Amino acid sequence: MASDAGNPIPRFPAGFVWGVSTSAHQIEGAVDEREPSVWDAFTAEPGRVKDGSTAAVACDHYHRYREDVALLADLGVDAYRFSISWPRVRSTGGLDFYDRLVDELLAAGVRPVPTLFHWDLPVALDWLERDTASRFAEYVSVVAERLGDRVKKWITLNEPAEHTLLGHALGAHAPGRQLLFDALPVAHHQLLAHGLAVRALRASGATDIGIANSHGPTWPASEESADLEAAGFYDLLLNRLFADPLLLGQYPEGLGELMPGDVESDLKVIAEPLDWYGVNYYAPTRVGAPQGEDIEFGGLTIPAELPFSVRQIEGVPVTDFGWPVVPEGLTELLTGFHERYGDRLPPVVITENGCSYPGLDDQDRIAYLDGHLRALHKAVKAGVDVRGYFVWSLLDNFEWAEGYERRFGLVHVDFDTQQRTPKSSYGWFRGVLRAQR
Ligand code: NOJ
Repeated sequence: MASDAGNPIPRFPAGFVWGVSTSAHQIEGAVDEREPSVWDAFTAEPGRVKDGSTAAVACDHYHRYREDVALLADLGVDAYRFSISWPRVRSTGGLDFYDRLVDELLAAGVRPVPTLFHWDLPVALDWLERDTASRFAEYVSVVAERLGDRVKKWITLNEPAEHTLLGHALGAHAPGRQLLFDALPVAHHQLLAHGLAVRALRASGATDIGIANSHGPTWPASEESADLEAAGFYDLLLNRLFADPLLLGQYPEGLGELMPGDVESDLKVIAEPLDWYGVNYYAPTRVGAPQGEDIEFGGLTIPAELPFSVRQIEGVPVTDFGWPVVPEGLTELLTGFHERYGDRLPPVVITENGCSYPGLDDQDRIAYLDGHLRALHKAVKAGVDVRGYFVWSLLDNFEWAEGYERRFGLVHVDFDTQQRTPKSSYGWFRGVLRAQR
């Protein structure tokens, strides 16, 4: 994988946006200064988070955002993707924080790129309810009215697929439901929320709107028809359940009938044209036929009832999360998307890419990012219109059900002292950014 390491990373097109990403619940802390979210309720239940931790303090970014913006400026990124906490905006003074953050970013020469929903739903709301989509659009209008004079690039939702699958189908994330296929309305209502939010943002004058979806190639366990069928189904859930309605205005085969409400008319809202399409890429998945029993995989239990099972990818390095390191999966994914969606695919931005490894001298993270940037460049060469790349993440942070054990940051955080220490990868990424100017 590292055969090119040491050579400069090839040049990306002019105007390419370089950035790093975070999310509100994972870094802000200051939970007492806002309404509770489903994640606060979830982490309060014993056994939900592996190390028993909560995001009550996390990186205390709410109080330390100036220091973090200074780290962004010193890194030399063009843009910073963060998320706006809906429960905070509903609380008195909550929007003032994002107002200050945006001003601080602009003063440091860093463009703010907020995500409007990154899984921290106000605890009083529920994605099983259609009304949540309209409530989301109302909240988005409030935010756009306040920040739209300074924020130009917007992201509606983060990874609705994971929020549906992990939060509502398997129960590994908040709100902890295990509905399996009965979770599908959660997908539909988030898509509808997205479409209504696009309309609300357009009404406020926004012209640079995207969404951040997780995608990765699905590799069948063998060429046997049972494995191919299972892999095809998994691919449909991960790669098409959201992308098809957004980009083609239709659900993949058979799924539309399982969705609630007037699906045909909702699809018109869902397919509102986007200015760009965000992809969060981490790894491909090896998928085979169900094995008749529950399977433990990557910290998840895949129940026997599901029509697929997930396997290890052999012969590649893994991160400390156990995720396979396969940079060429990114080229495969993007060229596949380009082929499937053709003219319907707007320019792509990689809204997340990164890995969990311990340590300050994180050569393994450098190798991961180096390999993925080269793989991304190959997709550009192959004709995919890619306009930006954001590393996940600026800071080590609260990695959901994994707690603080998994460290994705370019900057190390000592969670006892809140001391920030740039890792080797931070210096490396700064060098990449300088060389690309
Ligand atoms: C995707 C999610 O958007 C982010 O919140 C998470 O921390 C990373 N992937 C790593 O798992």
